[in-house]
Amino acid sequence: MSHADDNAGTRRDFLYYATAGAGAVAAGAVVWPLVNQMNPSADVQALSSIFVDVSGVEVGAQLTVNFLGKPVFIRRRTAEEIAEARAVELSALSDRDSQNPNRPGTDASDVNRTLDAEGEWLVMTGVCTHLGCVPLGNGAGDFNGWFCPCHGSHYDSSGRIRRGPAPENLWIPVASFIDETTIQLG
Ligand code: FES
Repeated sequence: MSHADDNAGTRRDFLYYATAGAGAVAAGAVVWPLVNQMNPSADVQALSSIFVDVSGVEVGAQLTVNFLGKPVFIRRRTAEEIAEARAVELSALSDRDSQNPNRPGTDASDVNRTLDAEGEWLVMTGVCTHLGCVPLGNGAGDFNGWFCPCHGSHYDSSGRIRRGPAPENLWIPVASFIDETTIQLG
């Protein structure tokens, strides 16, 4: 088998399909096992990129996929969520770093956190920056975003920390659209 064939097989095996069911992944305030973060299994470590088909994700829905042993939230935001996130002044934020390796060194304005210029797609590692719980989504918390009930961290619709003990905005993984409906992580 050629190297190219090999790659094709890998891509196929790890393509996620965003069906209606998958878009409604049950959210829970679970502690993501630390061992998963620290010691990803060999097959996961070898997999530096995955490709996610987001063609089935409706506006207002969120897909959660597992990447490098951590949950990654892929949210297709509503117009209301985008408008709210873009109206926030930097001065209202405790962490003013975009925490986005795709736009290194930029501030935490919403335009620096979304995958597309219009702001419909927000891709974030679903791990609270306090002690690593998986926050609840779909408009949870006081800022219409994500809420981590472990110790009460509220993130806004851009995933930025707005209240509670978490020190940083939700981190953004290396990600890009490779075509209109496929997101590459890593
Ligand atoms: S782990 Fe999220 S608030 Fe403590």
